[in-house]
Formats: sequence, structure tokens, C-alpha cells
Amino acid sequence: MLIVDQIRAPISEAPGSRLEYLEVFTEIDSTNSYLLEQEAPPPGWFRVALAEHQTAGRGRMERRWYSPPSSGLCMSMSYTFEKEPKNLPSLTLAIGVGIAEALESMGVAGAGLKWPNDLVVRNGKLGGILTEMRTGHGPAQTVVVGIGLNVDLGRAPDADHIKTRLGYVSDLAACLDELPDRSELSAIMIDTIFNTLVEFELDGFDRFADAWQRFDWLRGQRVSIESPDGRTRGTCQGIDADGALLLRTSSGSQRVLSGSIRLHGQPDSY
Ligand code: BTN
Repeated sequence: MLIVDQIRAPISEAPGSRLEYLEVFTEIDSTNSYLLEQEAPPPGWFRVALAEHQTAGRGRMERRWYSPPSSGLCMSMSYTFEKEPKNLPSLTLAIGVGIAEALESMGVAGAGLKWPNDLVVRNGKLGGILTEMRTGHGPAQTVVVGIGLNVDLGRAPDADHIKTRLGYVSDLAACLDELPDRSELSAIMIDTIFNTLVEFELDGFDRFADAWQRFDWLRGQRVSIESPDGRTRGTCQGIDADGALLLRTSSGSQRVLSGSIRLHGQPDSY
């Protein structure tokens, strides 16, 4: 169970001193939607919403995020930058790097990042990141960063059906001999996301662009990318300094800024 005191206690000093509110819901439609509707935290401060279960969890590109009750981490954090940081679209990638590094420190071997927002392990989707902007007045910019992580899908009453429903998935239980308590895991993720936001605000995307290479799960893979401009096929060649995906196609190299990525010969859910 997610317990507020057990989430708050292990949070480090810097994030702990900037945490405005932390709320845990037994059930909610979406923690991202909830924080988008709340007042923005003051610059440099953040709010957190966690849920045991989301009835309308959202993913990138209007997709659903389904996580069986109490089997994962469904968490959103709203944070206000004093002014809009440079290259804000690369923030999702920076958060991915922060989380992949945190998972590695917890002992998860082989964590990978599938551009732009998926966490992958053992060739299955372990989690995803949904970053949304909150509109406001003045130079300050509030973002809502949502993270969904599969912790122990075997705990779900419909565990047998999950693979069929979600496609190819993975969970932390498959990667760790001893699973952290979800409250403890929430504290680790709060530290990680806060530190990433602050580092991104101060120093930008450069460090994250370098670190991405180590986790890049798509490099060398043949993919097809669906975007409003149509379908493009090619081989992934990493990301550039701004976080765009580099694709080698039959007509030369292309920078991809958004789109839905499907591995060659794999179903859509992959
Ligand atoms: C994706 O895979 O496209 C992103 C999934 C993000 C899911 C998280 S769960 C907490 C937060 N609330 C939501 O509705 N979505 C994010």
C-alpha cells in the first residue's frame, strides 16, 4: 500500500524542502489530469499525486495507460520553472535518463530507453513517461511529469490476461530479487525527477544527450514511424544534441521530432 508518511520520510533534503503537497488517491481518473487542473506550484516548488489505481490513465499520443490496481507506480509531479527552459521538448528524454540511472542504482540490469518516452527492460515495456505543459501567465512555465512503472504484474487478479491486453510488457519483479516497497520506490522516483528537473533547468539537455547513448534501445533497429506527415521507414542512429531521433532512410538521414514508432515486423504495442 502507498502510505504518505512512508513516502515522505526517505525523500532527500533538497526535494523535501520544495515539496508543496503530496497526495495519494485510492482511485482517480488520471494523476496527470488531476495536477493539470490544480493550481500551479510557485517557481522552484513541486506537487505530487500518486494513485493505487487510475481509471483513465493516459499515455503519449492519446493512448491509454493501464496498470492493474496496486501492481505499479502511477505518479505525477507538477513543477514550475522560473522561465521556460531551452529545448523543453527534450525534457521527457532527460527524465527517462534520470529514471534509467535510478533503476540501475537499484540493481535493475539492462534498463533501456525507447525514444522518446518508454522504459524498456528484457525487451518488454517496463514503463512510460507523459510530460504535459500547463498554460499560465507570465514567464514561469509549469510542467506535469507523469510516470507509470510496472512493479509486480503477477499481483494483479487478472495477471493471465495482462500480456494479451497490454502487449509485450515487463515488470520490476522480473528484474530484482527483492522488490522495494512501492512507498519507498515513490520516494526514489520523487528524488530522481526533482533532481532531473533542477539539473535540466540549470544546465540544459547536454549531459542527458550523452547519457542517453548508453540506454538507447533503438540504435541500429529498423523501424517505421507514423506521424501526421505519413509513414517513414529507416534505421535508428541515436539522437542529436536536441533530442531528435536520427533515422537513416533510403533517401538520406532524417531528424524525427515526433511520431509513433514500431519495430520492423513487430505489432503496434511493441
Ligand atoms: C506512455 O507510455 O505513453 C506514457 C505512460 C504514462 C503513464 C503515467 S501513470 C501516471 C500518469 N497519469 C497518467 O494518466 N499518465 C501518467
